[in-house]
Amino acid sequence: MNKTLSIVGSQWGDEGKGKITDIVCKDADYVVRYQGGNNAGHTIEFDQKKYSLHILPSGVFNPSTKIVIANGMVVNPKKLVEEINMLQSHGVSISLYISNRAAMIMPYHEELDEYYENLKLDFKVGTTRKGIGPAYMDKINRSGIRMAEFCDKDIFAKKLSHNLEISNNLLDDTKLTKYSFDQVHPEYEKYAEVLSQYMCDTSLLLDQAVKNGEKIVFEGAQGVMLDIEHGTYPFVTSSSPSSSSIPVNTGIGSHYINNSLGIVKAYTSRVGEGPFPTQIEGDIADLIRETGREYGTTTKRPRRIGWIDLVQLKYAARVSGFTQISIMLLDVLSVAKEIKVCIGYQLDGKEIYTIPPLERDYQNVKPIYKTFTGWNTDITNVLDYNSLPKEALEYLEFIEAELGLPINIVSVGPDRLQTIIRNDIFQ
Ligand code: IMP
Repeated sequence: MNKTLSIVGSQWGDEGKGKITDIVCKDADYVVRYQGGNNAGHTIEFDQKKYSLHILPSGVFNPSTKIVIANGMVVNPKKLVEEINMLQSHGVSISLYISNRAAMIMPYHEELDEYYENLKLDFKVGTTRKGIGPAYMDKINRSGIRMAEFCDKDIFAKKLSHNLEISNNLLDDTKLTKYSFDQVHPEYEKYAEVLSQYMCDTSLLLDQAVKNGEKIVFEGAQGVMLDIEHGTYPFVTSSSPSSSSIPVNTGIGSHYINNSLGIVKAYTSRVGEGPFPTQIEGDIADLIRETGREYGTTTKRPRRIGWIDLVQLKYAARVSGFTQISIMLLDVLSVAKEIKVCIGYQLDGKEIYTIPPLERDYQNVKPIYKTFTGWNTDITNVLDYNSLPKEALEYLEFIEAELGLPINIVSVGPDRLQTIIRNDIFQ
């Protein structure tokens, strides 16, 4: 039997995947990132130190875990070199493999991100401005620079010069930066020299590893509702975080991906624009935001806050293919006297139980709530599931029954130790 596990955000990102990946990675042979780029961000806390990562997966802190940047990612070489240097300066040595087919993010992609956002008027996505969309646009347009090309001096120079000409033409009448070849080329050639030592065929590497029965964790970035295929389009990212995308994004067979842990925040948050039916404002939202430290790791923007939404979670579990879930930040809900759970939507006088495809309709749905009594007590030191307050158990059992998926992990605080693990999630 193969030993793979995917860890995927079930909402709009920032559910706490980094912490769980970090714990699970303790005995993983590989941790693989398969989509997105430095739009992601996870903060990992241990030994009283805080590390912010944007590209490398959380498994970097385990010296025996090999970490993989797979073909489905878009890689900013400058930021990746900075991240590697930051870790090395803290004495963290990493065993890194970068797919020779991964797409590169170049400085003009960040400018183009701004450029396209400005053109969108009412449909601004509120992107992270990290050049993610434009880098994927170049990939799909077959004009992007892949890792193997970036590391080939001649091809890189030729493609860079051509792509700069095209992007500078687009940016011509704007105030955005138009980079010259001489500004970009010498600096980025140096990054290619550093990164080339890590480049390989990661499809081959992972195929061998899975056949050898090694433990492989696939770490998703963002969340299912930001998926380009299944998310709240057009307010989504440009890649597919869903577990179902892993075979394409890594180059291994789909029959190897059959164990997926959905990471579920005990409430919901969202950054950027787009529909969010259970969003709340006012004192309770502010209290949850402050207690949960709900500010973007990448952009520092305050996150929008809302109640947990079972219609949305059932949808995410279906399209991504979850087999189990982990509830995160349960301790944050200790501030609420009563807690709401969305169990359906009202749209134009009708009850609906799935997500409508039109963004306009999703903006207009009204949540139908079931209300639970809060537990209003500190649970950050509870280490045993059955010792949680009875109100918290009622809340969790309702979610578990509605989703039809086992809650195998409950997180009650930011530290690795503040985690209740009920079952072996690799089973
Ligand atoms: P992009 O990925 O920068 O193109 O941004 C597209 C949308 O995804 C925006 O609403 C971002 O705020 C959101 N987004 C991108 N990465 C993350 C993430 O890691 N967590 C939460 N939201 C994200």
